[in-house]
Amino acid sequence: HAADAHRTDLMTVTRYVLNEQSRHPEARGDFTILLSHIVLGCKFVCTAVNKAGLAKLIGLAGETNVQGEEQKKLDVLSNEVFVKALVSSGRTCILVSEEDEEATFVDPRLRGKYCVVFDPLDGSSNIDCGVSIGTIFGVYMVDKDLDSISLDDVLQPGKNMLAAGYCMYGSSCTLVISTGYGVNGFTLDPSLGEFILTHPDIKIPKKGKIYSVNEGNAKNWDGPTAKFVEKCKFPTDGSSPKSLRYIGSMVADVHRTLLYGGIFLYPADKKSPNGKLRVLYEVFPMSFLMEQAGGQAFTGKERALDLVPTKIHQRSPIFLGSYDDVEEIKALYAAEQ
Ligand code: AHG
Ligand code: MN
Ligand code: MN
Ligand code: MN
Repeated sequence: HAADAHRTDLMTVTRYVLNEQSRHPEARGDFTILLSHIVLGCKFVCTAVNKAGLAKLIGLAGETNVQGEEQKKLDVLSNEVFVKALVSSGRTCILVSEEDEEATFVDPRLRGKYCVVFDPLDGSSNIDCGVSIGTIFGVYMVDKDLDSISLDDVLQPGKNMLAAGYCMYGSSCTLVISTGYGVNGFTLDPSLGEFILTHPDIKIPKKGKIYSVNEGNAKNWDGPTAKFVEKCKFPTDGSSPKSLRYIGSMVADVHRTLLYGGIFLYPADKKSPNGKLRVLYEVFPMSFLMEQAGGQAFTGKERALDLVPTKIHQRSPIFLGSYDDVEEIKALYAAEQ
């Protein structure tokens, strides 16, 4: 009765990560405990997002964050939920959130060996119109005396991440995660309150037919980006033009790219020489996932995961997605050197 197996053999995200734990015997369940607190945060934000319009949770919170963005009520609420859940897990020592100017150093009595970098609510501009938004997170480990940690311990290159993932609050609530052994997708079953494995071992198509960029910035693009987008629209090799799909929530644009293939670009431009997306909690987790799914991620200068950040809210241009598509833009930047 293989067909029925999935109905009784419920692979929840917790069980999945416990299985993964067998590859990290030294973790002794700490990572599973950390993940269960991240999952709790995602479940809470999912319900808050779903009832935002009803619960007067849309609109501005009346503050602006370090990014100079007006914080939405849901930005602030989801940030508080994740900070509290992560601190109370007793498994974290440093937290970096898009919504907090400074890193959070956890009370020494509650410290654990993991650092979590996260964007509690990604795509805030889409909240009030009900378009998909999400949460993005990455996990580093600190291998030293937890009483002597400093900011340097979280300013690690993305390749050091132990795990990364996102939760997309769309028509369904989908959690996509990698602990370094491939990418798996889980869908929240509201009747169980559990994330169930629905997308095992996600692999991104080697080449795609979609490009995803904010064309409104075209006036300020540099040469290689402008050339690449031109080729998407007016291919010179006789192939058909690519489709443009741009949602404006990185989580949604990346999720579509992961499943359908193609390339997502947030390039540098004259106004923002480092692009817009933040290295620690947007660029690194999505780049980690793309590589784990057989794709790649490039900053315009180097492999995204090789970048060593010097500031917690540092930005970087990013080109990520299908392996062959990113190869094309790498060639255009190399030709410019
Ligand atoms: P956030 O809402 O967390 O600040 O992130 C918004 C980001 C990202 O989600 C998206 O890819 C990008 O902003 C869209 O930027 P533009 O509106 O400039 O295209
Ligand atoms: Mn923001
Ligand atoms: Mn974001
Ligand atoms: Mn955000």
